[in-house]
Amino acid sequence: MGKVIAITNQKGGVGKTVTSVCLGVCLADDGKKVLLVDFDPQGNLTKGLGYRDSNSYPYSIKDALFNEVNEIDINWEDYIIHTDEKVDLLPANISLSGVDVQLSNVMSRETVFKRVLSKFKDNYDYILVDSNPALNLFTINGLTAADSVIIPVQAEPYATDGLNDLLHTIATARKQINPNLKIDGILITMTDARTNLSKHIANEVREAYGSHIKVFDTEIPRVVKTSESALAGQSPIKYAPYAESTLAYRRLAKEVEKLHVKAIAKTRHEFSR
Ligand SMILES: Nc1ncnc2c1ncn2[C@@H]1O[C@H](COP(=O)(O)OP(=O)(O)OP(=O)(O)O)[C@@H](O)[C@H]1O
Ligand SMILES: [Mg+2]
Repeated sequence: MGKVIAITNQKGGVGKTVTSVCLGVCLADDGKKVLLVDFDPQGNLTKGLGYRDSNSYPYSIKDALFNEVNEIDINWEDYIIHTDEKVDLLPANISLSGVDVQLSNVMSRETVFKRVLSKFKDNYDYILVDSNPALNLFTINGLTAADSVIIPVQAEPYATDGLNDLLHTIATARKQINPNLKIDGILITMTDARTNLSKHIANEVREAYGSHIKVFDTEIPRVVKTSESALAGQSPIKYAPYAESTLAYRRLAKEVEKLHVKAIAKTRHEFSR
């Protein structure tokens, strides 16, 4: 069974999409089977991997959600794009916008996405879900389907604004619908080694949250090539294989794999008692 990780922060532009694609490609380079799920009507993950034209693929996540709600069986493989970067992609585009409002009227509205993913889960080691910048029904569906959450936080002033709201939402999801939901960690992104401000903010995040939530040792530096890659329709990992940001995401992948191995060992231990 694949591990589902939601990359979530309702704050916009903090590095959710870049983290999803980079972590996914690095895990795939480590030999893992990875599905990237674009759960954002902006479709940045999809476009960033070169699929700018929604006519170039037959189905998107919107169709998968729609069919699940209408109890229409899908062949999951039809929904998947096999990219040339070793990762598979469940794409999204602007047609997803407004679907959250439609979802709000259906039965078991929080679990629609979880039910969709159950069709895909056996075929992957990791499913990474790139969330939209909101605390809406998509986010709740993401948190309901997820085994864990990674929270990217940008090393900029007001970095942690809204973080308490997100943690509260995660706690509520855990209490009401997904008791096993874990926080893998806070990931500090877009650090700038040249400025003290960036270091100061990274330290502040570690001090404020580090005692009760894991903050990944790896920090992701700001590297211009990271944002250029989207225009080239490639992941930043392929576009800039030797960039500091790429090396950092490779280290992050190792941290994430270690967490997963630890969790499996713990489950086995509890199971055998
Ligand atoms: N390490 C980095 N170095 C330089 N630029 C980066 C880095 N990480 C992300 N960016 C750029 O910052 C912008 C925001 O990143 P990204 O799209 O990943 O954030 P997001 O949280 O997914 O945004 P949204 O909330 O809109 O979905 C993008 O232009 C991206 O290319
Ligand atoms: Mg995004």
